Amino acid sequence: MKLLLSFTFLLAALASATDIETSLKSAGIKVVGPTDPAYATDIFDYNLRFHYQPALIAYPTNAAQVSKVVKAGTTFNLPVTARSGGHSFIANALGDGRLVVDLSLMKNITVLQNGATVEAHIGAGNRLGDIALALNEHGRAIPHGLYAYVGIGGHGGHGGYGLTSRLWGLNLDRIIEVEVVLANGTVTNASLTTNPDLFWGIRGSSSSFGIVTDIVYDTLPRPDYAIAFEYVWNLDYTTAAQAISDYQVFVNNIPQELGLAVEWNRGNASGFVTLEFGGAWYGAEGQVESVLQPFLSKLPTPSFGSLLGNGTWIDNIATLAQGPLDTSLAPDTNATFYVKSLVTPQEAPMDDNTLLQFMKYLATEGFSTPLDWFVQIGLYGGNASAINAVPQDATGYTHRDSMFTMQIQVTQVPVVTEAGFSFVEGVADTITGNMPPDWDYGSYLNYIDDRLVDWQHRYYGVDYPRLQALKRSYDPTNLFRFPKSIEL
Ligand SMILES: Cc1cc2nc3c(=O)[nH]c(=O)nc-3n(C[C@H](O)[C@H](O)[C@H](O)COP(=O)(O)OP(=O)(O)OC[C@H]3O[C@@H](n4cnc5c(N)ncnc54)[C@H](O)[C@@H]3O)c2cc1C
Ligand SMILES: *[C@@H]1O[C@H](CO)[C@@H](O)[C@H](O)[C@H]1NC(C)=O
Ligand SMILES: *[C@@H]1O[C@H](CO)[C@@H](O)[C@H](O)[C@H]1NC(C)=O
Ligand SMILES: *[C@@H]1O[C@H](CO)[C@@H](O)[C@H](O)[C@H]1NC(C)=O
Ligand SMILES: *[C@@H]1O[C@H](CO)[C@@H](O)[C@H](O)[C@H]1NC(C)=O
Ligand SMILES: *[C@@H]1O[C@H](CO)[C@@H](O)[C@H](O)[C@H]1NC(C)=O
Ligand SMILES: *[C@@H]1O[C@H](CO)[C@@H](O)[C@H](O)[C@H]1NC(C)=O
Ligand SMILES: *[C@@H]1O[C@H](CO)[C@@H](O)[C@H](O)[C@H]1NC(C)=O
Repeated sequence: MKLLLSFTFLLAALASATDIETSLKSAGIKVVGPTDPAYATDIFDYNLRFHYQPALIAYPTNAAQVSKVVKAGTTFNLPVTARSGGHSFIANALGDGRLVVDLSLMKNITVLQNGATVEAHIGAGNRLGDIALALNEHGRAIPHGLYAYVGIGGHGGHGGYGLTSRLWGLNLDRIIEVEVVLANGTVTNASLTTNPDLFWGIRGSSSSFGIVTDIVYDTLPRPDYAIAFEYVWNLDYTTAAQAISDYQVFVNNIPQELGLAVEWNRGNASGFVTLEFGGAWYGAEGQVESVLQPFLSKLPTPSFGSLLGNGTWIDNIATLAQGPLDTSLAPDTNATFYVKSLVTPQEAPMDDNTLLQFMKYLATEGFSTPLDWFVQIGLYGGNASAINAVPQDATGYTHRDSMFTMQIQVTQVPVVTEAGFSFVEGVADTITGNMPPDWDYGSYLNYIDDRLVDWQHRYYGVDYPRLQALKRSYDPTNLFRFPKSIEL
């Protein structure tokens, strides 16, 4: 009986997939369904830990077509999700039975002067590397992450951190207007003056509210000088813990032009951990060494230490991306991985005992495990960070009092096993389990974690009730639903 029921259900699902396919095709929209040869490759995202079977992938070329796809989602009762660059850590643009709106045919970029503002209108299917190249042609820039193939749709919809973020804010902080298709198919705009409530939610949780088709940025002049740097040590865990303790003090007395990230990897022996101190400098040429000196002087001589790049802005972007910026030149790569994130509060840094337990775990468990792992922290806070200068209630991105955003990652082929999950969770526990129980850490939506339990609080914090009210108003049937989306 159960088998028969599910068989009938399957037939109904297939029939409706065919109907919707016919209907969208006759509207002139490119679609890829389960019977198309392209389906086998189009259903993959960057993280190969997930193998989803969407009902259909649509490739609209403009907002009017996106509207038709969204309306078809309601008609055929399929949840709808946007795919920009497909770099969600949990393949959240895909999902079994979903109607996917792939934005890869919407890659226009226009830069224009509007009064005192140099605006960039960016189609939501663009990747970070292509955007950096297009803006650089005009001597302009926006803050964003390092990896060239990440899509602007997910990145700018949920944060968007890069080494310029202490100076310029998150990617979403530079958005001044979006064009968005709502759950009822209406194409509208949102800005501080048009639909301001929606504009608030879109800057932090865009995926729960609509399909953003075009994003308008208030661009910045590119820095005259830009240089990356990297220093590497193998440290015993006591010294490593002291280094991070010193680092948490150092960052409160640095210029905004300094972007910093620290990464840990397996050490050269049990009890040791590899510490990589990297970042970029966007101030005047010739100053970076003296700016770093107060921190470097507290550590032994590094096994590696160098400035990286030729000083130009676009070379800095390419150096940090570690690959070509023009994403049409080479196919994207992929990985099979699990990530947890922690956002540590600026007002309550990790204490010395926590740092010691954290470093000890990486230096012992992290040495003996055969797993391929890294832990990385981006500096969001520190002295006069532009991220934390934005008032907490100004956007739907909640964490405006952050020090670090941490990424704990295990990569494992062909699948991430229980050992992989528990190593990552073990690292996180050395921090959350040693800090006081009321320590109010968060998690970062762009490092989305399918296993996070108290996700409403960790991702959305105090904003959650306001986001839910907005969800009920703009998406009352929960058409845009996926793991960790805002609930009604
Ligand atoms: C290799 C790698 C490096 C990274 N580096 C950084 C970094 O330096 N800094 C940083 O902050 N983050 C970084 N990230 C995280 C990245 O910002 C997120 O994974 C981001 O959400 C990916 O966006 P996407 O458009 O490529 O992904 P997608 O999977 O296409 O989208 C992610 C989510 O956003 C939704 N979405 C996409 N487009 C739209 C749209 N137009 N309207 C509404 N919803 C939309 C999707 O439905 C999905 O839920 C990195 C990720 C990877 C894999
Ligand atoms: C993209 O730009 C071209 C040329 O300017 C224009 O014809 C087209 O309508 C634009 N597409 C979208 C989706 O805006
Ligand atoms: C909506 O925003 C788009 C850019 O995304 C812009 O071209 C268009 O003029 C805006 N429409 C209105 C009515 O403001
Ligand atoms: C690990 O690196 C440290 C620091 O460079 C060094 O003192 C130690 O001898 C190294 N240990 C091994 C086993 O290579
Ligand atoms: C810290 O930030 C303030 C405000 O931008 C600035 O005046 C000060 O110079 C900064 N400190 C350092 C060491 O640069
Ligand atoms: C710097 O490097 C970029 C490539 O990353 C190159 O295009 C540019 O010509 C170089 N400029 C100088 C001044 O060396
Ligand atoms: C993943 O990347 C590898 C190496 O680039 C490539 O051979 C493989 O086809 C990719 N897999 C998918 C599913 O895209
Ligand atoms: C679609 O939803 C928006 C936001 O809730 C609303 O303002 C608009 O009137 C709706 N349009 C239609 C045609 O129902």
